[in-house]
Amino acid sequence: MQQSKNRPKVLVVHGPNLNMLGKREPEIYGTTTLEQLNSSLEALGDCLGLAVDAFQSNHEGAIVEKIQTATGIQNGVIINPAAFTHTSIAIRDALLLLDIPVIEVHLSNIYKREPFRHKSLISDVVLAQITGFGIQGYSMALTALAGILVSHD
Ligand code: DQA
Repeated sequence: MQQSKNRPKVLVVHGPNLNMLGKREPEIYGTTTLEQLNSSLEALGDCLGLAVDAFQSNHEGAIVEKIQTATGIQNGVIINPAAFTHTSIAIRDALLLLDIPVIEVHLSNIYKREPFRHKSLISDVVLAQITGFGIQGYSMALTALAGILVSHD
């Protein structure tokens, strides 16, 4: 296992309204809070040899700035841009600055919902998209990044 300071770093970005997880439409998004989700990802990161840094904002510009700061610091990104998935060219453009693996996650299956949710403006500039597995989608993304980023020798 690598020393914690040498572990590959993964930035987890949560978009608008995801701070309300647990209370927000629980029949769609589940009952786990964002704090619980982030804690479980940090714990899984420890097991996988990754350092997890979680960030949530309701503001598009704050998310753009956070993605910009990932360059040269983070080794991978997991992002659920929430409603900005369907609207934000600015977040798409920020992701294009990165030369590290990025995985898009959605709690719900966006393709089974209203037509305006079927279009993701980032899906063609990320490594992969995981949609519809609830909070498990984040663990799947983190495990996939460990397979790419963590050396086992
Ligand atoms: C979401 C799906 C989006 O359409 C929605 O606006 C969200 C959450 C999801 O995780 O299922 O806020 O990204």
